[in-house]
Amino acid sequence: MNPDLIISQDQLKAGDVHWQSPSNIAIIKYWGKHGIQLPQNPSLSFTLQNALTETKLSYAPKESPSKGIELDFWFEEQQNNVFGAKVANFLEQLIPTFPFLEQLSLKIQSVNSFPHSAGIASSASSMSALALCLCSLEDQFFGTLGDDVAFDRKASNIARLGSGSASRSIFAGAAVWGQTNLVAGSSDEFAVSIEERLHPVFKTLHDDILIVSDAEKPVSSRAGHALMNDNPYASTRYAQANQRLDILLQALEAGDLEKFGKITENEALTLHGLMMTSNPSYLLMEPQTISIIQAIRRYRKETQIPVYFTLDAGPNVHMLYPEEHIASVRGFVHGELASMLHDGVYIPDFVGEGPVEV
Ligand code: DP6
Repeated sequence: MNPDLIISQDQLKAGDVHWQSPSNIAIIKYWGKHGIQLPQNPSLSFTLQNALTETKLSYAPKESPSKGIELDFWFEEQQNNVFGAKVANFLEQLIPTFPFLEQLSLKIQSVNSFPHSAGIASSASSMSALALCLCSLEDQFFGTLGDDVAFDRKASNIARLGSGSASRSIFAGAAVWGQTNLVAGSSDEFAVSIEERLHPVFKTLHDDILIVSDAEKPVSSRAGHALMNDNPYASTRYAQANQRLDILLQALEAGDLEKFGKITENEALTLHGLMMTSNPSYLLMEPQTISIIQAIRRYRKETQIPVYFTLDAGPNVHMLYPEEHIASVRGFVHGELASMLHDGVYIPDFVGEGPVEV
């Protein structure tokens, strides 16, 4: 418990903090964790621009002092007690870090920019938005996080406790989470920006998220990560992620799309390979996922346009390509891919500027 972060009676007041925070797409995947949300290998992702969560945290002094969290949680403009209980539980765990939370009555209103049914993982955007609100709250009352570096580091650390991948969403452009000698200042506890290392072609990279299915995931990320504990390929995998990060960083700096694409696609298939070889085994690709992957590879060969795919722990395909090819690639989406998509839906996104305080 940090006794310095208790609000004195005369400072207790009502107010709000409000953030928009984006999702991210991992190129080197985080899959496997230990301890309290610590990664088994460093991961690297691009921060997206359009797929985001907007979270408003309103607070007022509790009517009478009590232990624990007092929370009213709203999702997509409706009170949501199921999500509310999960968030309250998370906030309870954070009381030693933010002891002033016990002094306040909280209302959280959260909305996503993407349809809930799109099957897009929202934990990265929602947990990073919440972490940013909590850090703003601390800063409003105590002025302890005025310096941007300290603010981002704490926000990333808190976001990580909510969902590992959320630690990377705090930063514009691209970020690495997990200790590695390849990135100065990197840590298992928070992510760091690698935006300044990106060649310009990657700063405007597009990611069209091709929706294959909007079904709920059959395995939660938490359970998925746990399967790595007994996966026979685990240690080789963690070593491979480190080696690939080295090559990927060189490609990102040099603007080498071919090298980038090879690693990107192989990482996606490795992630799914790990899930398929776990016990129990999960096969999260759908037939359309494979058809889209094959169509992307065929299109790339025919046109020489550097377009590559990656996957999260689900059937939807992220299609990555440089800004200059947008017209041709959109023609390909509408002409060849649309019939393989769920209701013909895709979500156009691109590498973004990071979270914004509203
Ligand atoms: C496949 O961050 O969702 O998207 O820490 O349990 O919340 P928890 O897991 P989560 O795992 C994301 C896994 C991934 C790859 C990645 O984003 O690195």
